[in-house]
Amino acid sequence: MPAAVLVGAQWGDEGKGKATDLLGGDVDYVVRYQGGNNAGHTVVIGDQKYALHLLPTGILSPDVVPVIGNGVVIDPGVLLSEIDGLAKRGISAERLLISSNAHLIMPHHKALDKVTERYLGKAKIGTTGRGIGPAYGDKIARMGVRVQDLLDPGILAKKIEVALTEKNQVLTKVYNRRGIDPAAVLEEYLAYAERLKPHIADTSLVLSKALDEGKFVLLEGGQGTLLDIDHGTYPFVTSSSPTSGGACAGAGIPPNRLTKIIGILKAYTTRVGSGPFPTELTDETGEWLRRTGGEYGVTTGRDRRCGWFDAVIARYATRINGITDYFLTKLDILSGLESIPVCVAYEVDGVRHDEIPMTQTDFHHAVPVYEELPGWKEDISNAKSFDDLPPNAQSYVRALEEMSGAPISAIGVGPGRDQTVVVRSLV
Ligand code: GDP
Ligand code: IMO
Ligand code: MG
Repeated sequence: MPAAVLVGAQWGDEGKGKATDLLGGDVDYVVRYQGGNNAGHTVVIGDQKYALHLLPTGILSPDVVPVIGNGVVIDPGVLLSEIDGLAKRGISAERLLISSNAHLIMPHHKALDKVTERYLGKAKIGTTGRGIGPAYGDKIARMGVRVQDLLDPGILAKKIEVALTEKNQVLTKVYNRRGIDPAAVLEEYLAYAERLKPHIADTSLVLSKALDEGKFVLLEGGQGTLLDIDHGTYPFVTSSSPTSGGACAGAGIPPNRLTKIIGILKAYTTRVGSGPFPTELTDETGEWLRRTGGEYGVTTGRDRRCGWFDAVIARYATRINGITDYFLTKLDILSGLESIPVCVAYEVDGVRHDEIPMTQTDFHHAVPVYEELPGWKEDISNAKSFDDLPPNAQSYVRALEEMSGAPISAIGVGPGRDQTVVVRSLV
């Protein structure tokens, strides 16, 4: 039976949380496959707002099994406080499964994330400071501590000792920071182990069996296509693979299980942190988009950079991920504009580019070529069907669909669970 991937098509914060939640009624498992608590996924149910960082959005649907896949990096302290926070609001995490192969974010990863950013000065990436990059770095360098190590105190002690023997040298001698006490880390992580043990599982096996039994598995991406370590705006990216190719590796299921790849696309563009952003508006209009769209980071509270829709990026996301359907979010935010510019191509040194330039240097110099689409004045936040949308909003959606190269199957007209226009079934 099918597995579907839900992937951010831009620079993150497209509304993946809301889209995953919407599909919660149709799926049996929701799996996070990469990233960590750098993510901030918002779900609004009635008058309740939830901000999820490590927990899959499926935690909010009682019939869904939420799974943290092997591709995720887990800060166990953050995970437990997220679980506790939800428990206080009456939401149980009892069903949660955590891959034994997932890697742990350790105290030295967080210390190194902060200090390396400081050393980069103006060249900083603008990370979330959660230790994501250093944790993935150690995973690839085969120095990581994994969830399964929590089950073996002897191994855990040894791994912490080995890691800190090197990292304390780096922290103290290169960065002039205080070293970290391995005994204190061991004690802290053994306490986490006690609480996490019941959730640890061979999640790849669980998912494989579930698929054989005809269950529906939804793979929930963090971040977005342009933040992908391989396909994003390197080095201004995150350290994992949010794109659909990364979903299989990060969940432990094979590519031929995937039947749908759903891209989440905002009706305009935002980005947090440093790096190129051709359609960015640094003027009053950008400020208006930020204010109207509430574009402030869920994880760090930083102002998100805002700009017009970029069709070059959307086309790229369609190609890299093999998008079968788009969920267009935040169309309601654009209501009231006389006309709406949409970037259809770039110009680099006087040469037109219909695709993202091959080199990062050219991408930094990309100047958007805009087409103006007519706006609409009506409030669309109560629209229930495509026909309820004003003609110009319909034309805007159709134009974006045409330019992006994949069908827009759902349209967000507000943050609420019920504020979605479904054009055709996403599952
Ligand atoms: P994610 O990281 O992709 O899950 O997105 P975030 O939660 O970081 O940011 C998306 C924001 O937009 C959240 O505040 C959502 O509640 C909100 N949102 C999602 N879809 C819509 C929509 O269609 N309209 C409006 N107005 N808000 C939306
Ligand atoms: P969700 O899942 C937007 C950005 C950071 C920074 C870069 C690297 O909510 O869409 P990292 O801490 O990952 O090493 O930072 O990536 N970033 C995000 N931007 N949404 C996110 O997640 C992000 N997660 C990381 O701002 O530019
Ligand atoms: Mg977010």
